[in-house]
Amino acid sequence: MGQNLNIILIDSEENTRNIIKSYLSELENIQISSECIFEYSDIDEGIKKSFETQNSILLIDISENTEKALESIRKLKDEKKDTLIAALSYKATTDVIIKAMRAGAKEFISKPVIKTDFKETITALIQEIDNKTVNESCKIISTFSNKGGIGKTSIAVNLAIELAQLSKEKVALVDLNLQLGDVATFLDLTPSFAMDYIANNIQNLDDNELLKTLTRYKNTSLYVIADPLNIDKSKEITSAQIEEILQSLKKSFSYIVIDIGTNIDSKTIKALDMSDLILLVATVNLPAIRSIQRCMEMFNKLGYTQDKIKLVLNRYMENEEIKTSDIEEVVKQKVYWKIPNNYLTMMSAINKGVPVNEINQESNIAQNYMDFASKVSDYLITQKLLKDYNKRENIRI
Ligand SMILES: Nc1ncnc2c1ncn2[C@@H]1O[C@H](COP(=O)(O)OP(=O)(O)O)[C@@H](O)[C@H]1O
Ligand SMILES: [Mg+2]
Repeated sequence: MGQNLNIILIDSEENTRNIIKSYLSELENIQISSECIFEYSDIDEGIKKSFETQNSILLIDISENTEKALESIRKLKDEKKDTLIAALSYKATTDVIIKAMRAGAKEFISKPVIKTDFKETITALIQEIDNKTVNESCKIISTFSNKGGIGKTSIAVNLAIELAQLSKEKVALVDLNLQLGDVATFLDLTPSFAMDYIANNIQNLDDNELLKTLTRYKNTSLYVIADPLNIDKSKEITSAQIEEILQSLKKSFSYIVIDIGTNIDSKTIKALDMSDLILLVATVNLPAIRSIQRCMEMFNKLGYTQDKIKLVLNRYMENEEIKTSDIEEVVKQKVYWKIPNNYLTMMSAINKGVPVNEINQESNIAQNYMDFASKVSDYLITQKLLKDYNKRENIRI
């Protein structure tokens, strides 16, 4: 840690404040001065202080008046995107933790505060500021199917924009259809740099420079890496380069969404390996169901666990001849999500080069994508919590 780091603490319990002060005193380059400690009744002042203080981490108790506390976190995060926040609470239920993280907290600390957990959490946040380590909370989501024309690109694009809007964090959308990608077309972007340039230069790009090579979608926190303009260039890209690019992106992004395409090669397998969640896309018809079976067999061979693969039915219509339960029985996998068939909105979005929520926010498909993004982000948060929990339990044993 190069510079001193300031802690802002909002907690009404004197006991907790003293405990936190003593734990912090054991950490290097951390300071907490008396004017940075606030009672819960002075929450607005605490938030203001956090807004004004550079290099700071806000620790805020949300045990009581949870809604007001979460609203304050949301506002602060809206105005100062890079603020690091850890929420504290006696109510450490999954529901509360997910709400806190949704509002913008990066970490959650259960009360009463346990020394090892507390120090680990603060250290993780410091590392994030230092940007030395890969951001553990960055999650990679891929859309995959061995069939074309099924909706992989539509899902990657619309899910990515919804995740960006929901989380207010940076989301990278990567087109791995290296020969004929269409993510840039779906968003009407003309990228200055594409995957070939980034792959060739990844070793020399620092995080800031890498960010500048991505193409931002309008005024949002969604950034795109498009496929190479020249098809020949795509052959020169290696799986090691893909790995390096994804590792680098993990440092600055909260989500990476990859449109994997249908092609299976060392590059796409690398991306699948690195994914936290693979959305296996299918439509409801026999050939598509057979192809899901084949994909599941392949994932099995690749050693992927069930919790990494989720089945998504696209262009779903009620009263389909083949029932969802039939599909689940055949592929031995629950259907995770259904996206309704809405040809007009979808076509108009593609033709205009915008996500469906810009065509009609109230349409069933735009609403569905919003809910889908919430479900995916809640799932990934829960997975991270489980992982952290198991890690801590192992350390204690
Ligand atoms: N939910 C949907 N309802 C209706 N049409 C859809 C839906 N999702 C995708 N489509 C259409 O299906 C076609 C193929 O989608 P695309 O995302 O390009 O598939 P893939 O990437 O799998 O090849 C597009 O023309 C798109 O408009
Ligand atoms: Mg596609």
